[in-house]
Amino acid sequence: MKRLGIMTGGGDAPGLNAVIRAAVKTVLALEDCEIVGLRDGFDGLIDVGGVRPLTAESVRGILPRGGTILGTANRGNPFARKVIRDGIETTVDVSDQVVAAFDKLGLEALIVVGGDGTLRISRELVDKGCPIVGVPKTIDNDVGGTDVTFGFDTAVNVAVEAVDRLQTTAEAHHRAMVLEVMGRDAGFIALHAGIGGGADVILIPEIPFRYEPVLAQIAARARGGRPFSVLVVSEGAQPAGGAQRFRSRGDEDVASRLGGIGLEVSEYLLRHGGVEARSTVLGHLQRGGSPTAFDRWLATRFGSAAARLALQRGFGRMVALRGTRIIDIPLTEALESPRRVDLAGDAVLTARNLGVCLGD
Ligand code: F6P
Repeated sequence: MKRLGIMTGGGDAPGLNAVIRAAVKTVLALEDCEIVGLRDGFDGLIDVGGVRPLTAESVRGILPRGGTILGTANRGNPFARKVIRDGIETTVDVSDQVVAAFDKLGLEALIVVGGDGTLRISRELVDKGCPIVGVPKTIDNDVGGTDVTFGFDTAVNVAVEAVDRLQTTAEAHHRAMVLEVMGRDAGFIALHAGIGGGADVILIPEIPFRYEPVLAQIAARARGGRPFSVLVVSEGAQPAGGAQRFRSRGDEDVASRLGGIGLEVSEYLLRHGGVEARSTVLGHLQRGGSPTAFDRWLATRFGSAAARLALQRGFGRMVALRGTRIIDIPLTEALESPRRVDLAGDAVLTARNLGVCLGD
Protein backbone atom coordinates (compact mmCIF):
# COMPACT_ATOMS: atom_id res chain seq x y z
CA MET A 1 0.00 0.00 0.00
CA LYS A 2 1.24 3.52 -0.82
CA ARG A 3 2.71 5.33 2.19
CA LEU A 4 2.97 9.11 2.62
CA GLY A 5 4.50 11.08 5.47
CA ILE A 6 4.06 14.49 7.03
CA MET A 7 6.34 16.46 9.36
CA THR A 8 6.49 19.92 10.93
CA GLY A 9 9.83 21.73 11.25
CA GLY A 10 11.20 25.00 12.63
CA GLY A 11 9.43 27.20 15.18
CA ASP A 12 5.78 26.33 15.69
CA ALA A 13 2.94 28.50 14.38
CA PRO A 14 -0.78 28.38 15.14
CA GLY A 15 -2.43 26.31 12.41
CA LEU A 16 0.09 23.44 12.16
CA ASN A 17 -2.44 20.96 13.51
CA ALA A 18 -5.04 22.24 11.05
CA VAL A 19 -2.61 21.46 8.20
CA ILE A 20 -1.93 17.95 9.55
CA ARG A 21 -5.64 17.23 9.97
CA ALA A 22 -6.53 18.47 6.48
CA ALA A 23 -3.66 16.59 4.82
CA VAL A 24 -4.51 13.33 6.59
CA LYS A 25 -8.24 13.55 5.83
CA THR A 26 -7.59 14.47 2.18
CA VAL A 27 -5.06 11.67 1.58
CA LEU A 28 -7.36 9.08 3.14
CA ALA A 29 -10.37 10.37 1.20
CA LEU A 30 -8.62 10.34 -2.18
CA GLU A 31 -6.60 7.13 -2.15
CA ASP A 32 -6.39 3.80 -0.44
CA CYS A 33 -3.08 4.55 1.22
CA GLU A 34 -1.38 5.10 4.55
CA ILE A 35 -0.08 8.35 6.03
CA VAL A 36 2.41 8.57 8.88
CA GLY A 37 3.64 11.47 11.00
CA LEU A 38 7.35 12.01 11.61
CA ARG A 39 8.30 13.35 15.01
CA ASP A 40 10.25 16.55 15.76
CA GLY A 41 11.10 17.79 12.29
CA PHE A 42 14.03 16.20 10.47
CA ASP A 43 14.89 14.26 13.62
CA GLY A 44 12.03 11.96 12.58
CA LEU A 45 14.02 11.01 9.47
CA ILE A 46 17.18 10.36 11.43
CA ASP A 47 15.67 8.45 14.31
CA VAL A 48 13.19 6.51 12.19
CA GLY A 49 11.59 5.01 15.28
CA GLY A 50 9.82 8.35 15.66
CA VAL A 51 7.10 7.53 13.13
CA ARG A 52 3.41 7.21 14.00
CA PRO A 53 0.48 6.23 11.77
CA LEU A 54 -2.08 9.00 11.33
CA THR A 55 -5.74 8.15 10.97
CA ALA A 56 -9.00 10.10 10.94
CA GLU A 57 -9.21 9.14 14.60
CA SER A 58 -5.78 10.49 15.51
CA VAL A 59 -6.45 13.93 14.00
CA ARG A 60 -9.90 14.30 15.54
CA GLY A 61 -10.28 17.45 17.67
CA ILE A 62 -6.92 19.01 16.76
CA LEU A 63 -8.18 21.77 14.44
CA PRO A 64 -8.35 24.50 17.13
CA ARG A 65 -5.21 23.39 18.98
CA GLY A 66 -1.96 25.39 18.88
CA GLY A 67 1.45 23.72 18.67
CA THR A 68 1.82 20.53 16.63
CA ILE A 69 0.90 16.98 17.56
CA LEU A 70 4.05 15.86 15.72
CA GLY A 71 6.47 18.05 17.65
CA THR A 72 9.00 20.27 15.94
CA ALA A 73 12.60 21.40 16.22
CA ASN A 74 14.43 24.44 14.96
CA ARG A 75 17.78 22.73 15.08
CA GLY A 76 18.88 19.45 13.54
CA ASN A 77 19.74 20.52 9.99
CA PRO A 78 20.70 17.14 8.42
CA PHE A 79 23.37 18.89 6.31
CA ALA A 80 25.04 20.34 9.42
CA ARG A 81 24.02 18.31 12.40
CA LYS A 82 25.75 18.74 15.73
CA VAL A 83 26.87 15.51 17.37
CA ILE A 84 29.17 14.66 20.22
CA ARG A 85 32.07 12.44 19.13
CA ASP A 86 34.68 11.37 21.66
CA GLY A 87 33.30 14.01 24.01
CA ILE A 88 33.77 16.79 21.43
CA GLU A 89 30.94 18.61 19.62
CA THR A 90 31.31 18.29 15.84
CA THR A 91 29.15 19.15 12.84
CA VAL A 92 28.39 16.31 10.46
CA ASP A 93 26.41 15.91 7.23
CA VAL A 94 23.81 13.16 7.79
CA SER A 95 21.76 13.96 4.69
CA ASP A 96 22.55 10.57 3.09
CA GLN A 97 21.04 8.94 6.17
CA VAL A 98 17.92 11.06 5.66
CA VAL A 99 17.72 10.06 1.99
CA ALA A 100 18.06 6.39 3.00
CA ALA A 101 15.28 6.84 5.56
CA PHE A 102 12.75 7.41 2.76
CA ASP A 103 13.43 3.87 1.51
CA LYS A 104 13.62 2.41 4.99
CA LEU A 105 10.22 3.91 5.85
CA GLY A 106 8.76 3.18 2.42
CA LEU A 107 7.77 6.82 1.98
CA GLU A 108 6.56 7.67 -1.51
CA ALA A 109 6.05 11.31 -0.61
CA LEU A 110 6.66 13.60 2.36
CA ILE A 111 4.75 16.77 3.16
CA VAL A 112 7.07 19.18 4.99
CA VAL A 113 5.41 22.06 6.82
CA GLY A 114 8.01 24.69 7.62
CA GLY A 115 9.39 28.18 7.32
CA ASP A 116 12.31 29.50 5.35
CA GLY A 117 14.97 27.31 7.00
CA THR A 118 13.01 24.05 6.85
CA LEU A 119 11.95 24.68 3.24
CA ARG A 120 15.55 25.44 2.26
CA ILE A 121 16.70 22.11 3.72
CA SER A 122 13.78 20.42 1.93
CA ARG A 123 14.86 21.89 -1.39
CA GLU A 124 18.37 20.50 -0.88
CA LEU A 125 16.89 17.09 -0.06
CA VAL A 126 14.77 17.27 -3.22
CA ASP A 127 18.02 17.84 -5.13
CA LYS A 128 19.23 14.55 -3.62
CA GLY A 129 16.10 12.80 -4.91
CA CYS A 130 13.74 13.05 -1.93
CA PRO A 131 10.03 13.20 -2.85
CA ILE A 132 9.04 16.29 -0.83
CA VAL A 133 6.25 18.86 -1.16
CA GLY A 134 6.27 21.98 1.01
CA VAL A 135 3.73 23.96 3.02
CA PRO A 136 4.84 27.46 4.10
CA LYS A 137 4.33 28.33 7.76
CA THR A 138 5.57 31.10 10.01
CA ILE A 139 4.17 33.83 12.17
CA ASP A 140 6.74 36.16 10.53
CA ASN A 141 4.99 36.04 7.12
CA ASP A 142 8.39 36.20 5.43
CA VAL A 143 8.24 33.20 3.07
CA GLY A 144 8.48 34.25 -0.57
CA GLY A 145 5.99 33.22 -3.24
CA THR A 146 2.90 33.25 -1.02
CA ASP A 147 0.85 36.30 -0.10
CA VAL A 148 0.43 35.10 3.49
CA THR A 149 1.57 32.25 5.73
CA PHE A 150 -0.72 30.77 8.36
CA GLY A 151 0.19 31.70 11.93
CA PHE A 152 0.71 35.34 10.99
CA ASP A 153 -2.90 36.38 11.57
CA THR A 154 -2.94 34.80 15.03
CA ALA A 155 0.33 36.50 15.99
CA VAL A 156 -1.00 39.87 14.81
CA ASN A 157 -4.19 39.40 16.82
CA VAL A 158 -2.18 38.65 19.96
CA ALA A 159 -0.01 41.71 19.33
CA VAL A 160 -3.02 43.97 18.72
CA GLU A 161 -4.52 42.87 22.01
CA ALA A 162 -1.22 43.74 23.71
CA VAL A 163 -1.21 47.19 22.07
CA ASP A 164 -4.79 47.79 23.24
CA ARG A 165 -3.80 46.89 26.79
CA LEU A 166 -0.69 49.05 26.69
CA GLN A 167 -2.72 52.03 25.41
CA THR A 168 -4.79 52.20 28.59
CA THR A 169 -1.89 51.92 31.01
CA ALA A 170 0.18 54.37 28.92
CA GLU A 171 -2.65 56.91 29.11
CA ALA A 172 -3.20 56.39 32.84
CA HIS A 173 0.48 57.00 33.68
CA HIS A 174 1.40 59.48 30.93
CA ARG A 175 4.12 57.13 29.75
CA ALA A 176 5.60 55.77 26.57
CA MET A 177 5.04 52.03 26.33
CA VAL A 178 7.31 50.07 23.99
CA LEU A 179 6.14 46.69 22.70
CA GLU A 180 8.77 44.45 21.09
CA VAL A 181 7.23 41.93 18.72
CA MET A 182 8.68 39.02 16.74
CA GLY A 183 9.19 38.82 12.98
CA ARG A 184 12.93 38.33 12.45
CA ASP A 185 14.02 40.47 9.47
CA ALA A 186 10.47 41.24 8.34
CA GLY A 187 8.36 43.96 9.91
CA PHE A 188 4.92 42.55 9.07
CA ILE A 189 3.84 41.73 12.64
CA ALA A 190 4.91 45.17 13.90
CA LEU A 191 3.34 47.03 10.99
CA HIS A 192 0.02 45.18 11.03
CA ALA A 193 -0.31 45.18 14.82
CA GLY A 194 0.82 48.80 15.04
CA ILE A 195 -1.77 49.94 12.51
CA GLY A 196 -4.43 47.64 13.96
CA GLY A 197 -3.80 48.89 17.50
CA GLY A 198 -3.35 52.57 16.62
CA ALA A 199 0.32 52.80 17.69
CA ASP A 200 2.07 56.18 17.47
CA VAL A 201 5.46 54.81 16.44
CA ILE A 202 6.21 51.63 14.47
CA LEU A 203 9.81 50.57 13.94
CA ILE A 204 10.51 47.81 11.43
CA PRO A 205 13.71 46.18 10.11
CA GLU A 206 13.06 47.47 6.59
CA ILE A 207 13.38 51.11 7.77
CA PRO A 208 16.51 51.81 9.85
CA PHE A 209 15.28 54.36 12.40
CA ARG A 210 16.58 57.54 14.02
CA TYR A 211 15.68 58.53 17.55
CA GLU A 212 15.06 62.22 16.69
CA PRO A 213 11.75 61.71 14.84
CA VAL A 214 10.63 59.23 17.52
CA LEU A 215 11.26 61.76 20.29
CA ALA A 216 9.66 64.51 18.16
CA GLN A 217 6.51 62.39 17.76
CA ILE A 218 6.23 61.78 21.51
CA ALA A 219 6.82 65.49 22.24
CA ALA A 220 4.26 66.60 19.62
CA ARG A 221 1.64 64.32 21.16
CA ALA A 222 2.38 65.70 24.62
CA ARG A 223 2.05 69.27 23.31
CA GLY A 224 -1.27 68.32 21.76
CA GLY A 225 -2.60 67.14 25.13
CA ARG A 226 -1.77 63.44 24.65
CA PRO A 227 1.17 62.91 27.04
CA PHE A 228 1.40 59.18 26.33
CA SER A 229 2.50 57.06 23.38
CA VAL A 230 2.62 53.45 22.28
CA LEU A 231 5.55 52.24 20.22
CA VAL A 232 5.57 48.88 18.43
CA VAL A 233 9.11 47.77 17.69
CA SER A 234 10.00 44.76 15.60
CA GLU A 235 12.71 42.58 17.15
CA GLY A 236 14.74 43.04 13.96
CA ALA A 237 14.54 46.87 13.91
CA GLN A 238 17.83 48.69 14.00
CA PRO A 239 18.99 52.30 14.40
CA ALA A 240 20.36 53.90 11.22
CA GLY A 241 24.09 53.23 11.13
CA GLY A 242 23.68 50.69 13.95
CA ALA A 243 23.05 46.98 14.04
CA GLN A 244 20.35 44.51 15.08
CA ARG A 245 20.33 43.30 18.69
CA PHE A 246 20.69 39.58 19.39
CA ARG A 247 19.98 37.47 22.45
CA SER A 248 22.15 34.68 21.09
CA ARG A 249 24.17 33.97 17.98
CA GLY A 250 23.44 30.89 15.92
CA ASP A 251 25.39 28.80 13.41
CA GLU A 252 24.59 26.54 10.41
CA ASP A 253 22.43 24.36 12.66
CA VAL A 254 20.70 26.85 14.96
CA ALA A 255 19.31 30.26 13.99
CA SER A 256 20.43 33.41 15.82
CA ARG A 257 17.86 34.82 18.23
CA LEU A 258 17.00 38.49 17.89
CA GLY A 259 15.89 40.55 20.87
CA GLY A 260 16.64 43.52 23.07
CA ILE A 261 15.84 46.48 20.85
CA GLY A 262 12.59 47.30 22.70
CA LEU A 263 14.42 47.76 26.00
CA GLU A 264 17.13 49.77 24.29
CA VAL A 265 14.55 52.12 22.75
CA SER A 266 12.75 52.66 26.07
CA GLU A 267 16.04 53.35 27.86
CA TYR A 268 17.06 55.83 25.17
CA LEU A 269 13.76 57.69 25.51
CA LEU A 270 14.33 58.12 29.24
CA ARG A 271 18.03 58.96 29.04
CA HIS A 272 17.96 61.31 26.06
CA GLY A 273 14.39 62.58 26.04
CA GLY A 274 13.37 62.51 29.69
CA VAL A 275 10.38 60.37 28.64
CA GLU A 276 9.19 57.91 31.24
CA ALA A 277 9.06 54.67 29.31
CA ARG A 278 8.54 50.97 29.91
CA SER A 279 9.15 48.07 27.60
CA THR A 280 7.37 44.74 27.12
CA VAL A 281 8.63 41.79 25.09
CA LEU A 282 5.63 39.88 23.74
CA GLY A 283 7.75 36.84 22.86
CA HIS A 284 6.28 33.40 22.40
CA LEU A 285 2.76 34.45 23.35
CA GLN A 286 2.59 35.31 19.64
CA ARG A 287 3.20 31.68 18.68
CA GLY A 288 1.10 29.84 21.21
CA GLY A 289 -2.59 29.10 21.56
CA SER A 290 -5.49 28.54 19.26
CA PRO A 291 -5.29 29.76 15.63
CA THR A 292 -7.67 32.48 14.47
CA ALA A 293 -10.47 31.62 12.03
CA PHE A 294 -8.37 32.97 9.14
CA ASP A 295 -5.38 30.81 10.07
CA ARG A 296 -7.56 27.70 10.39
CA TRP A 297 -9.07 28.46 6.99
CA LEU A 298 -5.70 29.00 5.30
CA ALA A 299 -3.95 26.10 7.07
CA THR A 300 -6.77 23.71 6.16
CA ARG A 301 -6.67 24.77 2.51
CA PHE A 302 -2.85 24.45 2.46
CA GLY A 303 -2.98 20.99 4.07
CA SER A 304 -5.55 19.68 1.64
CA ALA A 305 -3.77 21.20 -1.39
CA ALA A 306 -0.42 19.75 -0.24
CA ALA A 307 -1.98 16.28 0.04
CA ARG A 308 -3.31 16.53 -3.53
CA LEU A 309 0.08 17.78 -4.71
CA ALA A 310 1.87 14.90 -2.99
CA LEU A 311 -0.50 12.32 -4.52
CA GLN A 312 0.13 13.90 -7.94
CA ARG A 313 3.89 13.61 -7.31
CA GLY A 314 4.45 17.37 -7.50
CA PHE A 315 7.79 17.04 -5.71
CA GLY A 316 10.02 20.05 -5.18
CA ARG A 317 6.96 22.30 -5.11
CA MET A 318 5.19 24.29 -2.38
CA VAL A 319 1.57 25.34 -1.94
CA ALA A 320 0.99 29.09 -1.78
CA LEU A 321 -1.78 31.67 -1.54
CA ARG A 322 -2.05 34.15 -4.41
CA GLY A 323 -4.94 36.53 -4.08
CA THR A 324 -7.79 34.22 -3.15
CA ARG A 325 -6.41 31.09 -4.87
CA ILE A 326 -4.20 28.30 -3.62
CA ILE A 327 -1.56 27.49 -6.20
CA ASP A 328 1.70 25.58 -6.16
CA ILE A 329 5.13 26.89 -7.11
CA PRO A 330 8.67 25.49 -7.23
CA LEU A 331 10.40 25.59 -3.82
CA THR A 332 13.27 27.37 -5.56
CA GLU A 333 10.97 30.23 -6.54
CA ALA A 334 9.67 30.54 -2.98
CA LEU A 335 13.18 30.63 -1.56
CA GLU A 336 14.84 33.03 -3.97
CA SER A 337 13.44 36.18 -2.38
CA PRO A 338 12.01 36.22 1.14
CA ARG A 339 9.04 38.55 1.71
CA ARG A 340 9.71 41.94 3.23
CA VAL A 341 7.47 44.94 3.88
CA ASP A 342 6.99 46.86 0.64
CA LEU A 343 8.10 50.38 1.48
CA ALA A 344 6.17 51.76 -1.50
CA GLY A 345 3.04 49.74 -0.62
CA ASP A 346 -0.22 51.04 0.74
CA ALA A 347 0.30 49.73 4.31
CA VAL A 348 3.37 51.91 4.82
CA LEU A 349 1.65 54.82 3.07
CA THR A 350 -1.40 54.37 5.28
CA ALA A 351 0.73 54.46 8.42
CA ARG A 352 2.39 57.66 7.24
CA ASN A 353 -0.93 59.26 6.25
CA LEU A 354 -2.29 58.49 9.71
CA GLY A 355 0.62 60.33 11.29
CA VAL A 356 2.42 57.23 12.56
CA CYS A 357 6.16 57.78 12.99
CA LEU A 358 8.20 55.08 11.22
CA GLY A 359 11.46 56.40 12.58
CA ASP A 360 12.72 57.92 9.31
O1 F6P B 1 10.38 32.52 13.05
C1 F6P B 1 9.46 32.53 14.09
C2 F6P B 1 10.06 33.16 15.32
O2 F6P B 1 9.06 33.20 16.31
C3 F6P B 1 10.68 34.54 15.11
O3 F6P B 1 9.71 35.56 15.01
C4 F6P B 1 11.58 34.63 16.30
O4 F6P B 1 12.67 35.49 16.04
C5 F6P B 1 12.06 33.22 16.48
O5 F6P B 1 11.13 32.39 15.83
C6 F6P B 1 12.20 32.79 17.91
O6 F6P B 1 12.77 31.52 17.92
P1 F6P B 1 12.88 30.62 19.22
O7 F6P B 1 11.55 29.97 19.43
O8 F6P B 1 13.96 29.68 18.90
O9 F6P B 1 13.22 31.54 20.37
